[in-house]
Amino acid sequence: MHKMYDDLAAWWSLLSPVEGYADEAAFFGQVLAEAGLPASPSLLELGSGGGNNAFYLKELFETVVLADLSPQMLAVSRALNPTCEHVEDDMRTVRLHRTFDAVFIHDAIDYMTTLTDLRQAMETAFVHCKPGGVALFVPDHLRDTFEPSTDHGGSEGDSRALRYLEWTHDPDPNDTTYTTDYVYMLRDGEQPLHIEHEQHICGLFPRADWLRLLAETGFAASIVPDNYDRELFVARRL
Ligand SMILES: C[S@@+](CC[C@H](N)C(=O)[O-])C[C@H]1O[C@@H](n2cnc3c(N)ncnc32)[C@H](O)[C@@H]1O
Repeated sequence: MHKMYDDLAAWWSLLSPVEGYADEAAFFGQVLAEAGLPASPSLLELGSGGGNNAFYLKELFETVVLADLSPQMLAVSRALNPTCEHVEDDMRTVRLHRTFDAVFIHDAIDYMTTLTDLRQAMETAFVHCKPGGVALFVPDHLRDTFEPSTDHGGSEGDSRALRYLEWTHDPDPNDTTYTTDYVYMLRDGEQPLHIEHEQHICGLFPRADWLRLLAETGFAASIVPDNYDRELFVARRL
C-alpha cells in the first residue's frame, strides 16, 4: 500500500483539499447527467479515496456507494461523506451484487498497471452498471499523449501543514506504466519538518487499447476531453 493511502492518509485533506475538486466534480456531474440519468439515480465510485469528488457528486445522486482498497482513506471519506455507504474492497474483484445508474472511476484507475488489471476494473464497472447505465473512467494519462511533468501543492491547517513535490516520468516507453515520485514535507506543530518520499507506478495505455477493452467488456464508449488535458471515457452498458 502506498504511504499516501496508508500511514499518511490522515494528511490527505491537507495534501488534496476538497475545495480543489469543485470544478472537475461539476464537470463529471455534467457528463453523467448528459449521458442520461433517471430520477433518483444511484452512483458507485470505485477507488473513491478521500471522497473529494463524492463530496460534490452526492448532491446529484439519491444513493452513493464508495469503494476503496484503503481503510485509512475510507475513514477520511466517511468523515467528509457520512451519508454515503463505504465499502473496503478492490476495484478489480469487488462484487456488491447490486447495480447502479452510474459507475465512476477517477484517478484511482491509474493504479491499474497491466491490461489484465484494466480489463478487470472495466468488468467490475460493467457488472455494477444497470443496462443502459453509464460508466465514467478518468485516467490521468494515455500512452498517446503522455508528457513528463512536475507539480507541487499542499496546504496548511491549524497545527499541521503539508507541501509536496510531484515528478512524473516514463522510464520505459515500451511498457504499460509510468512513474510518479512524491516528496512530502510534513510540519506538525513545533516538531522539526519531516520528509517522506515514495514512488507510485501507474498504468499507461494507448487510447486504442482503452476503446478495445471497453468494447470487449460490453460497453459502447466515447471520449470527452476535459479542461485538464485528460480524455474521459464515457461508456454505456448495452
Ligand atoms: C488519488 S486517490 C483517489 C482520490 C479520489 N479521486 C477523491 O476524489 O478523493 C486513489 C485511491 O485509489 C485507491 N486504490 C488503488 N488501487 C485500488 C484498487 N485496486 N481498488 C480500489 N481502490 C484502489 C487507493 O486506496 C486510493 O484511495
